Amino acid sequence: MATLGARLFLISGLLAATAAPHVSGIHSSTSTSPPSAISGQCPNQPAGRLEYDPLRKCPLPGVLGIIPDIEPSPETPWTLTPKCVGEEQKISNTTSRVHCIFTDGNFRTGHGTSLITTTTVAAHLVGLEAFNDRPARLEAAKRDAVPAYEIVELEGRGKGAVATRDIRRGEIIMVDVPALLVGTEFLHDVRAHHRRRLIKQAINRLPGKTRDEVWSLSRNNGEYEIDAIMGANANSVAISDNGIHVGIFPKVSRINHSCRPNAYYRFSETRLTMEVVSYHTIEKGEEITMSYVPLETKRQERRKYLQDNWGIDCQCSLCKASDYDQNESEASRGRINELRDSILNARNNGFFQDAINIAEDWHLVSEWERVPPLAPEYHDILAELYWRKGELVNATRFGRMALDEWVKFGSVDDDQLEHARVFLNQVWPVAEKRRKGE
Ligand SMILES: *[C@@H]1O[C@H](CO)[C@@H](O)[C@H](O)[C@H]1NC(C)=O
Ligand SMILES: *[C@@H]1O[C@H](CO)[C@@H](O)[C@H](O)[C@H]1NC(C)=O
Ligand SMILES: *[C@@H]1O[C@H](CO)[C@@H](O)[C@H](O)[C@H]1NC(C)=O
Ligand SMILES: *[C@@H]1O[C@H](CO)[C@@H](O)[C@H](O)[C@H]1NC(C)=O
Repeated sequence: MATLGARLFLISGLLAATAAPHVSGIHSSTSTSPPSAISGQCPNQPAGRLEYDPLRKCPLPGVLGIIPDIEPSPETPWTLTPKCVGEEQKISNTTSRVHCIFTDGNFRTGHGTSLITTTTVAAHLVGLEAFNDRPARLEAAKRDAVPAYEIVELEGRGKGAVATRDIRRGEIIMVDVPALLVGTEFLHDVRAHHRRRLIKQAINRLPGKTRDEVWSLSRNNGEYEIDAIMGANANSVAISDNGIHVGIFPKVSRINHSCRPNAYYRFSETRLTMEVVSYHTIEKGEEITMSYVPLETKRQERRKYLQDNWGIDCQCSLCKASDYDQNESEASRGRINELRDSILNARNNGFFQDAINIAEDWHLVSEWERVPPLAPEYHDILAELYWRKGELVNATRFGRMALDEWVKFGSVDDDQLEHARVFLNQVWPVAEKRRKGE
């Protein structure tokens, strides 16, 4: 059975950070605090993990031939010899902290990607077959081929992504892969000038089209070009549990911030793919936005974070709302956090009915505040709670609803779908037996 913990983690991730907690302080100096500093609540996995498989083990570095400065071998996807940070440039000398540039120029039929990360993380990703070419699911590919948005000049506000048709809630608006992924450990370990030089090299190792796309991205007013590009465009994602990486996803970086966003992103490490998904119906002509800050962040903190990291003076509808409305919003976001903790507590202490009641409140408040949990995730939680409580009719009912919704959702990862299937296969026979009075 899928573990409830993983699901709740997924939901809490969704609430904790709807989108891009971009790299914090990347343009300041050598020290870069991970985005988690802002709230301590899974900001590294904005919409939760898309996959959870404790059986997947990270292969040891070296096993796959990922050793500094050796020629690429047939077992590794690298199309160029990995270039690693030399002894004199790093602080730590443990094996897992050797940082290299890994480039796969063939990634996603020639899009290419460069990673600057530890050999351990690189081996983990190779072990997940993240670099194997897998055809995108038909639906996702179709959606991607006819984008529901265009990048246009917004009256006096620079460029943004605008819906070209009505977009349903839960629709996948954008599917993107990283041109560049940089481990925050690397940012910590390596001195500023080496850091910039290596990031520049990583970008220049990309195939021409992708490389040009990165260099043409917008910049903030950072002193150094690399930092200005990273600062203005990087999204953070988690790889291998705690390995926070900042990535340049060229398409996703076109989406602007709002504290009342209509979309959020989620990342799949097994496919190195990011999806932007709509929170609720987006009308044709509406700008598509994501929150760069965890949604429950307090207003003052939110403003400071936006200002410090992107130089944004928040102009979204919530920031411009009346004092009264802003206070209301503060209160309900606080409430959403409390409720989430209560669900976990009740569940952990075996009070399943309490957890169910609280989950329903939590659903209502988050719908009201327009930071709704997506329906399938909510139904997954209810199904598992009913299962634990022994209410098999509802467990089946909500399990089936979740499954149908995951199918409709057509996510890049089939994991949630698979979890929902496995769950139903377990519950259904027991429920049937009981119904027949056996
Ligand atoms: C680096 O390795 C040497 C021996 O190989 C060890 O004495 C030293 O403590 C290590 N330094 C760090 C920072 O781990
Ligand atoms: C939206 O993002 C673009 C960069 O993609 C930037 O130039 C523009 O100023 C942003 N607009 C707002 C309102 O933040
Ligand atoms: C909003 O909250 C602030 C600080 O908590 C308070 O000073 C202010 O009076 C409140 N405004 C309204 C309209 O409730
Ligand atoms: C099943 O779920 C509904 C909520 O959708 C609830 O009203 C009902 O009481 C539940 N039934 C049982 C037996 O728990």
